[in-house]
Amino acid sequence: MRMSVIGCGYLGAVHAASMAKLGHEVVGIDVDPAKIEALAAGKSPIFEPGLPELLVESVGSGRLSFSTDTSAARGAKVHFIAVGTPQKAGSYAADLRFVDAAVEGLMPHLAPGDLVVGKSTVPVGTAERLAKMIEPTGAMLAWNPEFLREGFAVKDTISPDRLVYGLPPEPADAATAQALLDEVYAEALSHDTPLVATDYATAELVKVAANAFLATKISFINAMAEISEAAGADVTQLADAIGYDARIGRRFLNAGAGFGGGCLPKDIRAFSARAEELGKGEALNFLKEVDAINLRRRDRVVELVVEALGGSAYNKKVAVLGLAFKPDSDDIRDSPSLDVAVRLNGLGANVVATDPEAIANSRRMHPQLVFGTTEEALQDADAVVVVTEWSEYRALDPVAVAAVVRGTVVIDGRNCLDLAAWRGAGWTYIGLGRK
Ligand code: UDX
Repeated sequence: MRMSVIGCGYLGAVHAASMAKLGHEVVGIDVDPAKIEALAAGKSPIFEPGLPELLVESVGSGRLSFSTDTSAARGAKVHFIAVGTPQKAGSYAADLRFVDAAVEGLMPHLAPGDLVVGKSTVPVGTAERLAKMIEPTGAMLAWNPEFLREGFAVKDTISPDRLVYGLPPEPADAATAQALLDEVYAEALSHDTPLVATDYATAELVKVAANAFLATKISFINAMAEISEAAGADVTQLADAIGYDARIGRRFLNAGAGFGGGCLPKDIRAFSARAEELGKGEALNFLKEVDAINLRRRDRVVELVVEALGGSAYNKKVAVLGLAFKPDSDDIRDSPSLDVAVRLNGLGANVVATDPEAIANSRRMHPQLVFGTTEEALQDADAVVVVTEWSEYRALDPVAVAAVVRGTVVIDGRNCLDLAAWRGAGWTYIGLGRK
């Protein structure tokens, strides 16, 4: 099937390349010429495992092309909207300006019977408004939220754990839209991927509800970490024990520096803002608490480092291991790790921060920070703080690291190190929510 993907950021670039991999003929469209030039040359503008190989293969096969000109969407049957919906300046609401611009730009190139498919995360009610907007073109609209996780984006797109279709209200239109989407996702459907076919509002809500739930789960365990710290308990054992209950589950119960990234923080805020607009702010008041618990964990990491350094970080060398908001990503949007590095630096610590992939992005945003290799960060450090659980930090040998640092104190901001091994090697090990 011929399709266009408007917006070639995280979501769009992965979606376009994955659709081409599935055998479709895809054009990716973005307003950023540098991004399009890189993608057209088969180069990934982001660090995402598997994406570079997929781009080279799909561009090479001729099934994937890129353009800065929206008219390239002409002739495609399905048009995905995959632009960003960042937090609006001065408010918690989502900024829909890119979504609106993408749809407006696409309209002159739509033919009757085309299907516009929204993938961006939007406040509930947006799809209905956009459907009315495109109605005069004779094209239809469906909402098909994306649940991809960074670091697993290609896998999550090609083999999603579920598909959600928000279909038009008219049954005949809904059937036509569903038939087109079934063709797009024929491969996943042939593997019995669960499908929920529903209305626009439910489909829009599924995405924000899922992210709100995940954020709540993380903040729940981080709240337990706060209590564990006060009560002398161990939150990792607590998580293991409650996680054995299949109704609770152990996944997303890792206490630490908290959640960040381009989705969870902004999505829970936009969801609260939308609930207030709907006169139901009260129903989502708990998300403000989820946000507050999350942000307190960053304060706690900084506090623990300062305590470990004897009450002041001034002029002490601190090795900050990790800058990305999570491992296997170079994304620093709302990253707790980068935040911790910046705050310690602001307290007068001599911070040397490192990350396998996120240094370039971090330097662009915080040129005042000093960056280095893991070895440079660790050399003569008075304290070591691990804030992103990259496998290479988990695999550090505590005996070897002890030989190069000045102070053998480690703050494990992700509870990812082997406590017994580090303590056994003579380290003062401080975890979050652990004795
Ligand atoms: C998230 C959702 O998982 C995904 O379904 C949605 O489409 C987009 O948002 P992503 O932002 O890639 O994906 O990251 P995710 O793996 O969910 O992690 C989010 C944050 O939570 C990270 O900062 C991570 O370190 C933190 N986290 C995750 C924890 O602190 N504890 C956990 O147990 C799990």
